Amino acid sequence: YHVDWDISAAEKGGHDYFMLKEIAEQPKAVADTLLGRLTPEGRLRLDEMRLSHDELREIDKIVIIACGSAFYAGLTAKYAIEHWTRIPCEVELSSEFRYRDPILDRATLVIAISQSGETMDTLMALRHAREQRARVLAICNTNGSTIPRESDAVLYTHAGPEVGVAATKTFLTQVVACYLIGLYLAQVRESKFGDEVAAEVDQLDRMPAAVRAVLGTMSDIRALARELATAKSVLFIGRHVGYPVALEGALKLKELAYMHAEAFAAGELKHGPIALIEEGLPVVVVVPPRGRDVLHDKIVSNVQEIRARGARTIVLAEEGDESVVPWADTLIRLPRVPTLLQPLVATVPLQIFACELAMARGNDVDQPRNLAKSVTVE
Ligand code: AGP
Repeated sequence: YHVDWDISAAEKGGHDYFMLKEIAEQPKAVADTLLGRLTPEGRLRLDEMRLSHDELREIDKIVIIACGSAFYAGLTAKYAIEHWTRIPCEVELSSEFRYRDPILDRATLVIAISQSGETMDTLMALRHAREQRARVLAICNTNGSTIPRESDAVLYTHAGPEVGVAATKTFLTQVVACYLIGLYLAQVRESKFGDEVAAEVDQLDRMPAAVRAVLGTMSDIRALARELATAKSVLFIGRHVGYPVALEGALKLKELAYMHAEAFAAGELKHGPIALIEEGLPVVVVVPPRGRDVLHDKIVSNVQEIRARGARTIVLAEEGDESVVPWADTLIRLPRVPTLLQPLVATVPLQIFACELAMARGNDVDQPRNLAKSVTVE
């Protein structure tokens, strides 16, 4: 029989867009980024980074520099890095970094996150950091690109080529690479967390399956996205690791659907943004796992507050979390994973939400207007 499809369809794995293919590739991208870097004994093997144990033990501050989704990957990973290493970790926009005259020295580890390795804002920021004698470690998805070449060390993500301008699998693998670095630092420096590294490594190794699981339950959010195609604005709120996930979800909606979207730390609602809530306004709520009861109860009350003011609540919550159900107009279930790793599963529904809504608007999600895959100008 004759298969009537054009070559590009084959390149897109039978999907209409590269972005859909790349969203579907995320379990493999996460698995490939972990491959060979975790030992059966639950330790990490990152000699490829060529940073000696003495150098790693000398670090007393971490500064992550990045732009856009890569910046949100850094914000996401900060929670895990600080918890595991007990090293202060700042996350800075590359375009702002060098103009604030940052305090850097030989004991500072600057982590430059860039999937393309050619982002001029991040390249200029890392050059400034090196002038201040800081050590620079690149997280990059493009072998041999400029940023890793100008860094002291590199940890490559293995997401494979990402054609869609909007970052999806490269975002998830940037977060995974940050997790690997954080756990490796804990292991080498024998931080107070050091003897828990093996348990965390075991959890990390289960994440490709968790990402695959969440990909299989997206029909509700696809239908919701099509329903909201004519919305004027969508808000995103989250607490703890759910906050940078909300930021990334809002960015996806802006760049793909050309729709106004804004993310807030849920605790900030009462300091102003709650004035935005009106009848029917869609609000996406990223609820962290219940492990931290005080935090969890606070975001449940946030959902009640906005629902009482007419918001249309779209709630992402882990399996079995019944606390938010009475106030969720749409409930998106997430696989149960450790709190610090939840961004790997919570981000996926927001990628699909933005992509589906953009397609419902007739947008080309692979090549959004005004955007380039790599921003090589400042
Ligand atoms: C994200 O969807 C955008 N494509 C953009 O924000 C991107 O993350 C940013 O330009 C950084 O790119 P890089 O990872 O190649 O440095």
